[in-house]
This record gives sequence, structure tokens and C-alpha cells, in this order.
Amino acid sequence: MAVVFTDTSLPDIIELQDISTSFDDGKTFIIKNMNLLIEDIPDAGEFIVILGKSGCGKTTVLKYIAGLANPYSGRILIRGRDRSHEVPISMVFQEPSALEHYTVLKNVMLPLLYRHVPEKEAADRAMNIIKAVGLEGHENKYAKFGKLSGGQIQRVVIARSLIANPGIILLDEPNRGLDNDTALQIDLLIANLWEQLQSTIILVTHDIEQAVFLGTKIYVMGGKPASIIKQFDVNIPFPRNLNTRRDAKFLALKNEVEDFMYNL
Ligand SMILES: Nc1ncnc2c1ncn2[C@@H]1O[C@H](COP(=O)(O)OP(=O)(O)OP(=O)(O)O)[C@@H](O)[C@H]1O
Ligand SMILES: [Mg+2]
Repeated sequence: MAVVFTDTSLPDIIELQDISTSFDDGKTFIIKNMNLLIEDIPDAGEFIVILGKSGCGKTTVLKYIAGLANPYSGRILIRGRDRSHEVPISMVFQEPSALEHYTVLKNVMLPLLYRHVPEKEAADRAMNIIKAVGLEGHENKYAKFGKLSGGQIQRVVIARSLIANPGIILLDEPNRGLDNDTALQIDLLIANLWEQLQSTIILVTHDIEQAVFLGTKIYVMGGKPASIIKQFDVNIPFPRNLNTRRDAKFLALKNEVEDFMYNL
């Protein structure tokens, strides 16, 4: 579950050093010698997007950062410390991962209950964030299809990942399987929440428009085996909202990233 980082003396928040992935003990590689340095900007955070085609290894990289899997070789450092120190991080998976036998309220309270926050306080804090993600009135429903829509379930998962105010939030294609309108609503929600939180978010996606809309930096993952092959800085002002998507800077960068991705 999520934890707030208190040690801000170390400037580099996440460092991937020479990461390689092999599922056949080194005969073939999915990822080879991937390096990535994500720096924390004090009091602002970063919104890092890792953009890559389906199957290139994006989810695999997020699992390494979250400590849910280990690379074949290479190291992951979080604030200068090895992953073996078990720094907990909050992650939203690409598959819906709400706990369907619990209500919306209980789902969102869980990270606080695990940390022994008293029930009443946990419920109050959960209600605040349930309101922020637009789920007020649904808090006593079970978090499952039939009771909630796909977009609402994803809001539950996002609320749960944010409640403990984590320093690092990992998002794995949080829009997958949602229709265009709902996907846009989730993007607007994520942009809005991040601007308030100032955490560091790492989002992986294959959606170029989403990458440019949300990111402060975009790293393209590609090649066979894959590594980081290109960086785009996103100098588009905040707040990001519906107007952003019609902004000349936004459209120009979207075109530039598209040209790069389609010529891969
Ligand atoms: N446990 C595993 N055993 C064998 N192969 C695996 C395993 N996990 C992932 N792979 C393979 O590694 C590659 C990268 O998988 P990964 O899920 O990281 O891709 P992705 O970029 O997240 O794709 P998508 O955009 O479709 O979600 C894929 O070819 C996948 O089949
Ligand atoms: Mg994936």
C-alpha cells in the first residue's frame, strides 16, 4: 500500500539501471539495457508517461518499479535505495482491480485501515476522495459490474490509490476498455487530481493523445529488444482541460509524437 516519502534529501526519485527482461533464462530478451532516470521536482512532482506499442514491456517495467517482479538483470533504485528495501508504492492495474465483495466506501478506506487509521477517520477521508472522483451517492454500492459502470469502477481504483497520498503513483493504461467519452472523463480526473497532489505519477500507455495530454515528459519505449529510444518534453501549460486538446502546442506535439511512433 501507499506511503508518503519523507526523505527529500535525495534528488533522484526513480532510477532504472540497465534493466533486462528475459522469460527463457537469457536466450531471448523482451527488454535489454533499459535506463531511465526520473527526477522529482520539489513541490511539483512529475507526470511521466512511458509510451510504447502493445507487448513492448510497459506493464513489466511498472511491476519492477512497484516491486511486484524482478528484472533478469539490472537495478531499480527508489530515492537512491535498492528495491529490496520494499518501498511501497501505489499502482492502478490495467485490469479492473476493485474488490467486488466490498462497497465503494470500504474499497477506498482499505489502505487507511491497513495502516490502523481509526475507522471513523478512514471513512471521513474516504468520503472526501469519493466526492473528488465524482462517486458521491455510490459509496454503499458493491464495486462490481452490474452495480457500477466500468468508468465508475476505475474511479474507485483511482480513489483507493490516491487516499494515502503516495509519493509515487503508477498507472497502467487506466482507460483500457472504456468508451471514448468515459476515457476522456478519467483523463480529466487524473489531470485534475495530479495538479492538486503534486506527486510523481508514472503512466504507461500506447495512446499518444493521452500521453501528450497528461504528461510533463514522455519516454518512448521501443525496439526489439525494447529500451527507451526517445524523450519528448511536454511544455504545455497547466491546468490541462478540454481546451488543452485544441491548443496549437498540444496539436503540434501530438503530430510530432505520432510521426515518430508511426515510423518506428
Ligand atoms: N510471465 C511471463 N512469461 C512469459 N512472457 C511474458 C510474461 N509476462 C510478459 N510476457 C511477455 O513480455 C512481453 C511484454 O509484456 P507486457 O505485459 O509488459 O507488455 P505491455 O507493453 O504492457 O503490453 P500491453 O500494451 O498489451 O499491455 C509480451 O510479449 C508478453 O507476452
Ligand atoms: Mg500492459
